[in-house]
Amino acid sequence: MRRHELMIRQLKAKDLPSVLSVAASSFKEEARRPEVIGPGFIDDITRFPSLQIGAFDGGLMVGFAIGELAEDWGVLDWIAVTPSHQRMGIGSELLKQFERRISLSGRQRVRLGTPFALDFYVKMGYTCVGTQRVLQKTVVGNDEPFDNAFSMTLNDLVDMLEDFELDSIKCFFSSSCVAVGRRDVGAVLATENRWSKDEIDVVFSKYEGVESHFLLLSQLEAKARQRGAYVITEKFDEAEVGLALKKGWEESRSPLAWTTYYMEKRLRARFRAIAMTAEDAANVDSAKKKPLKP
Ligand SMILES: CC(C)(COP(=O)(O)OP(=O)(O)OC[C@H]1O[C@@H](n2cnc3c(N)ncnc32)[C@H](O)[C@@H]1OP(=O)(O)O)[C@@H](O)C(=O)NCCC(=O)NCCS
Repeated sequence: MRRHELMIRQLKAKDLPSVLSVAASSFKEEARRPEVIGPGFIDDITRFPSLQIGAFDGGLMVGFAIGELAEDWGVLDWIAVTPSHQRMGIGSELLKQFERRISLSGRQRVRLGTPFALDFYVKMGYTCVGTQRVLQKTVVGNDEPFDNAFSMTLNDLVDMLEDFELDSIKCFFSSSCVAVGRRDVGAVLATENRWSKDEIDVVFSKYEGVESHFLLLSQLEAKARQRGAYVITEKFDEAEVGLALKKGWEESRSPLAWTTYYMEKRLRARFRAIAMTAEDAANVDSAKKKPLKP
């Protein structure tokens, strides 16, 4: 594409349908779903208007970058270019403009999590600072019984979680969810895999410490067995992976559960830091509480 045909501008709420359409055609992960990307975009555009940008080819949106500010860094929540326009330099251009906006807010670091575009970010000067591995467990042959103390309704879960955590799981609530937990240990929420009823994927977990994590997972296994599911997938921090492998977890072969790479880039202080807009400044505190979106 010739450069002059591409226009990059700040997004407005009315661009939502185009954002949903680009996301649906380019993402493989949950962000392709309107119920994930839609509220995420509205949340980000309301709190950090200057960090939402779109690339347009003759008036048609062909890509976007959506992000937020934390106290000392900027977070790129999502970037996508529609498949017909990929590998033409649009993603790089969006990312450069996003970084410039982060610099202008006085921050010198950008962070993000990505399952599929590791090499794109490496080319753009990012380094991998952590990995969250997705492993799977086959529950056949494990006969630990389900302890009823770990029975959990979605209402119990709602009582245990902070508002921002509830926001992040809202889109997963459905009758096919499996919630397992105990107030003093934590909770995990898994959903039936869309294509294979034999598989349940952990979509949210909250616990303090490795022991609690594995206790919850052993109860989830028992619950899965009761339901007839026999493969569970879950994300593990690098520090937990060794123990998980010893406990029978193995590399995920599910096409729907991916390892996430956390990337970071230090920006050169090329731009004179200017004050944030009042809107952006007011929202930094709430952004700090949010986990990185992969
Ligand atoms: C990742 C993405 C935004 C890149 O946009 P793009 O417009 O295709 O990227 P560019 O054309 O600017 O490519 C820049 C460089 O990164 C490389 N690259 C682009 N996408 C890549 C990918 N998915 N994996 C590995 N390398 C990639 C290109 O080859 C190019 O390198 P080159 O200059 O040596 O040829 C786009 O491919 C996309 O939307 N992918 C699907 C959604 C996604 O994975 N988003 C990121 C999730 S966080």
